[in-house]
Amino acid sequence: MSTTLGARTGARLAGEQKEHYVHSMFDRIAAPYDRLNSRISFGRDARWRKILVERSGAGPGDHVVDLGTGTGELALQFAREVGPEGRVTGVDLSAKMLEQAEQKRAVEGLANIEFREGNACATELPSSSADLVAMGWCLRNCSDLHAALHEVLRILKPGGTFVCLDMSRPSFAPVRGLFFLHRHLVMPLQARFYGADAEAYRYLACSTDHFPDRKALEHVMRTAGFAHIESWPLMMGAVALHRSVKAHL
Ligand SMILES: C[S@@+](CC[C@H](N)C(=O)[O-])C[C@H]1O[C@@H](n2cnc3c(N)ncnc32)[C@H](O)[C@@H]1O
Repeated sequence: MSTTLGARTGARLAGEQKEHYVHSMFDRIAAPYDRLNSRISFGRDARWRKILVERSGAGPGDHVVDLGTGTGELALQFAREVGPEGRVTGVDLSAKMLEQAEQKRAVEGLANIEFREGNACATELPSSSADLVAMGWCLRNCSDLHAALHEVLRILKPGGTFVCLDMSRPSFAPVRGLFFLHRHLVMPLQARFYGADAEAYRYLACSTDHFPDRKALEHVMRTAGFAHIESWPLMMGAVALHRSVKAHL
């Protein structure tokens, strides 16, 4: 599907078509995903995940759900934070991404993580079961943004925290313009230089164009029913971190 549609069309899809497009793309890029992400972000992706985990407030004994866990980088960090009495459930559409995650889990010998295939929009996890739900660059890829946010609210315990890291667009127009050029011109060149899947990086650029920016995503979260919403721009606003809470009834 990906090769016939192209990244620009892929970024505009919705529903099952988007799910299939995203699923096949991440299956395709799973093996080199970590290496290429690190190179293309000049190693900053690791720093952004560290900030997410620090600001999440995760602590010993928590149950953390990592939606769109991919190769498990966030899930592994959370597993160290919550300790042996806590647990982490990593959910992803892509079995190939989860294979990478499982290999890392086995190397570290962490017994408190479970990886499972599933859709962030309909996880089949029990309601009100998670102290914390995290998403790292997943929400933008979900086939239905609103369904994903409602699913997060469903699985969170009242008072539980949602943390979400994703691409965004700076608010200051000249900087926004520079990052537009960076996404659409520099990143595809970097991808080509590193031998990466060019369509995946074009999709990254196009899907960022269509995703709500930091303030707009705050509004979407508020409308969905989240409380105590805070957000932080990272890399001058090209990436955004949001934290919000499921209100007590
Ligand atoms: C850009 S990767 C990020 C992976 C990881 N969170 C990280 O920090 O590197 C996005 C991941 O979200 C997954 N994904 C996209 N849409 C999804 C959905 N609706 N349900 C579950 N996983 C999804 C993809 O398969 C992919 O592994």
